[in-house]
Amino acid sequence: MKKVGVLGTGTMGAGIIQVLAQNGYEVVLRARRQTSVDNGLATVTKNLDKMVKKEKITAADKDEILSRVHGSTDISIVKDADLIIEAATENMEAKKALFQELDELCKPDTIIATNTSALSITEIAAATNRPDKIIGMHFFNPVPAMKLVEIVKGLTTSEETRETIIELTKSLKKTPVDVAEAPGFVVNRILIPMVNEGIGILADGVADVEGIDTAMQLGANHPMGPLALGDLIGLDVCLAIMETLYSEFGDTKYRPHPLLRKMVRANKLGRKTGIGFYDYS
Ligand code: CAA
Repeated sequence: MKKVGVLGTGTMGAGIIQVLAQNGYEVVLRARRQTSVDNGLATVTKNLDKMVKKEKITAADKDEILSRVHGSTDISIVKDADLIIEAATENMEAKKALFQELDELCKPDTIIATNTSALSITEIAAATNRPDKIIGMHFFNPVPAMKLVEIVKGLTTSEETRETIIELTKSLKKTPVDVAEAPGFVVNRILIPMVNEGIGILADGVADVEGIDTAMQLGANHPMGPLALGDLIGLDVCLAIMETLYSEFGDTKYRPHPLLRKMVRANKLGRKTGIGFYDYS
């Protein structure tokens, strides 16, 4: 595998692009708007600049990495890719339409992976004529720093596709873990209810924002507390995952806390909007 297409240039997409390019892959990225293409490239450049400053790579390395990345708003830029990684909006109808388009556009042997954190791989695969070549590759935020990729096999994903993606993940210096298709897979099913519980503790007035986060950092040795983590992930993403867990399992233990809903309604989504439980402005 040499050429990888990435769809979406948000937090996850940009991180995935960076990791691929750093590990020698040619990356073609596509976003729907030119500003998104530009923002994605700017995020990658900014992160590589930080690495140059920390003397992890040289300025020449940075230029070489960036020379492997090309972006466009035209989806045909990904048509020769050996693998496509989709990191667009978490919406089943939008994903199905996109996968149908990719299925018609790409080579017959191209594997198309989705970075979905909660949606059914089997349902996405069923919208295409290559259900054996559709797989979940779930990265974690911040992508360049997080070592795990959950590899999600749908009902129709072939063993060959799984093995290819496991090898690719290792070539990115990440650790793959096989997970069955299930709401939230492993990490989000544990992590996001913890964020939701942190929000409930805040709403109950048991402790303030700093108190809750300090307690979990020092009392459970977590690198960041649940509210800071919610801000990092995006509170809209946390809400969407809780909604999926709640509707799929029908268990009230997954009920999104009303304060989480309120934060999303106020567009206080965390780092991406400059304010969440903390102020980033
Ligand atoms: N982009 C790229 N690299 C980043 C980064 C970013 N936004 N933030 C931190 N890093 C890198 C740094 O460059 C640094 O790398 P080096 O050690 O190679 O220099 C490393 O991460 C550590 O960073 P810092 O020393 O600056 O800061 P830290 O020690 O406080 O770590 C953290 C920051 C890695 C984010 C750490 O706080 C952490 O691990 N937090 C938990 C993150 C987490 O749980 N993520 C999962 C979210 S769930 C998810 O993503 C799935 C989903 O579907 C919602």
